[in-house]
Amino acid sequence: MLGGFRAEGKSVGLVPTMGALHEGHASLVRRSVNENDVTVVSVFVNPTQFNDKNDLAKYPRTLEADCRLLEGIGATIAFAPSVEEVYPEPDTRSFSYPPTDTVMEGGYRPGHFNGVCQVVSKLFMMVEPDRAYFGEKDFQQIAVIRRMVEDLQFPLTIVPCPIVREESGLALSSRNSLLTADEKELATNISRVLFISRHYAKNHSLEETRQWVIDTLNALDGLEVQYYEIVDGRSLASVQSWDDSDYIVGCITVFCGQIPVRLIDNIKYQEP
Ligand code: PAF
Repeated sequence: MLGGFRAEGKSVGLVPTMGALHEGHASLVRRSVNENDVTVVSVFVNPTQFNDKNDLAKYPRTLEADCRLLEGIGATIAFAPSVEEVYPEPDTRSFSYPPTDTVMEGGYRPGHFNGVCQVVSKLFMMVEPDRAYFGEKDFQQIAVIRRMVEDLQFPLTIVPCPIVREESGLALSSRNSLLTADEKELATNISRVLFISRHYAKNHSLEETRQWVIDTLNALDGLEVQYYEIVDGRSLASVQSWDDSDYIVGCITVFCGQIPVRLIDNIKYQEP
């Protein structure tokens, strides 16, 4: 796909996205532009990673605005293939990287990570990037993709990038556009409680902290925690105590609002 650039020895960064771009995506693109000669941003709402047809239909699509944003921040190529281009034939490959893809999202969204691996591996094969950029909001996704890269021996580096938050603390997400103004305000409690839990954790056990986060958020009308798991930051296996690992991350999914929007976030308690 990028033969000309490759022949000139140019480095290529890939930022895979599903569009509806926001400042979180822009931060990945800026980083790639800084670190590579060529930055490709894929915009593709991947049907195989949606286990809920309704969720796929509701997913925001804003290609024109996305292209304008990408032009403004120096992306070289916006790659927005059709479903037929990515999947000329149904993709029957299956990927399995337990526990990274079986816990948390893996349990609640069966087939989701299989679809992510299908599309990301195809994008890697089409673009052949030197580096690929992913946001840490989807913390579990990065762990799964790392395993896939090792398994399939893709010669590239995965670059995880920090979560970008609104001033309120709310993690930027394309799904935030589905929230009303009041629901958005309510959703700010997710990060607020996660941040406070870092202090709470200093004199409480891991299980007490986990339960405190769940109870505090569930006490708020309009929020419902689907899960809050505190896991090892590499394998994503659950940890029982703060001494179990040098890398401990809390991952949460919360339903917010009247027509519930599923929001995810995470927080690092311990980092190597
Ligand atoms: O994180 C996303 O937006 C998607 O899961 C990805 C990596 C672009 C694959 O469709």
